[in-house]
Amino acid sequence: MTENTKRVAVVPGDGIGKEVIAQAVNVIRAARAAVDFTEFDWSADRYLKDGTTIPPDGFSMLSRDFDAIFVGALGDPRVPSNIHAKDILLGMRFKMDLFANVRPVKCLDDSLCPLKNVRAGEIDFVVVRENTEGPYVDVGGVFKQGTPDEVAVQEDVNTRKGVERVIRYAFDYARRYGRKKVLMSDKSNVMTYAHGLWQRVFKEVAGDYSDIASQHMYVDALCMHMVRDPRQFDVIVTNNMFGDIITDLAAALQGGLGMAASGNIHPGRTSMFEPVHGSAPPFAGKNIANPFGAILTAATMLEYLGFEAAAAKINAAVVEAVRQKKTTQDVGGDLGTREAGQWIAERVAG
Ligand SMILES: NC(=O)c1ccc[n+]([C@@H]2O[C@H](COP(=O)([O-])OP(=O)(O)OC[C@H]3O[C@@H](n4cnc5c(N)ncnc54)[C@H](O)[C@@H]3O)[C@@H](O)[C@H]2O)c1
Repeated sequence: MTENTKRVAVVPGDGIGKEVIAQAVNVIRAARAAVDFTEFDWSADRYLKDGTTIPPDGFSMLSRDFDAIFVGALGDPRVPSNIHAKDILLGMRFKMDLFANVRPVKCLDDSLCPLKNVRAGEIDFVVVRENTEGPYVDVGGVFKQGTPDEVAVQEDVNTRKGVERVIRYAFDYARRYGRKKVLMSDKSNVMTYAHGLWQRVFKEVAGDYSDIASQHMYVDALCMHMVRDPRQFDVIVTNNMFGDIITDLAAALQGGLGMAASGNIHPGRTSMFEPVHGSAPPFAGKNIANPFGAILTAATMLEYLGFEAAAAKINAAVVEAVRQKKTTQDVGGDLGTREAGQWIAERVAG
């Protein structure tokens, strides 16, 4: 390990998470980036064995000892409460304050584009999702449960600090990557208090970035336009819940969940990178899961860690694999998870 070696904690997790992360780690090794990996077995298996979701000092250890965290997916039908996934994933996002969830939406080949009259190269935007607030903070309760008068309340938490920092992140991201426009999406016509705050803060922050255009769109209209004309988008910033939903729609514009990458970022701190998809239990252990979402996520992580050349090489190899149909079945090829990952690793190493 040299002084420039970056330390990455790897949490393969459950189901297909384990399979796709193994391939992505191989690809990083093939790219010869100076990365030292430490694997952690936090998963449904571990939880069922000894009750551990994440050890008590887990988050402080990750922040102290690692530059980044690489996660597969968490979720297993044997743990119906999903408690281990909540503790680990939401724990990382909230306790490590990874406030910007960055999800690039890029269609790599015409064969993956589900829209008529749209070329792959025209789908190229980024969703920045607020990652630490909204209804995900788990504030609320039920009253008179199980009676006809039952009441359920789920609070949607939006703070000025939380809203402002993610909007600023979106504008800074646009500047850094030569993007021209930031669009903020909300439902301020109905959620007048919560999204009224988003409106006010967005206008204030946009004023500090006169070189970047700003636009607003209600989330329902955004869904329609993402399908009718995705060319118009550049950087989209939105709250936690809308970001969660629209990025599944966005994944369909990229060829499906198997192709989508993400980073959970707090600039300057240990950040976490994971493919957008879940553990897909019916696919697990069958060597059929698409590893490209995880491999593209690995490239995003390498770029964050300062290995831009390795990241570019990996991205180019994935584009070429899709073009040549050296892929799993979900995106038109006939390779298995291992074979598709191996193809990328060989190309990157060569
Ligand atoms: N970040 C995460 O760890 C995360 C995200 C979403 C869901 N989950 C968990 O995963 C479990 C399954 O959830 P789900 O079925 O709703 O979502 P999922 O993303 O696991 O799978 C949904 C469907 O998408 C397709 N798909 C997903 N990933 C793919 C891949 N790599 N290659 C090919 N096809 C792929 C499959 O058709 C699959 O049936 C649940 O326990 C859920 O809580 C975890």
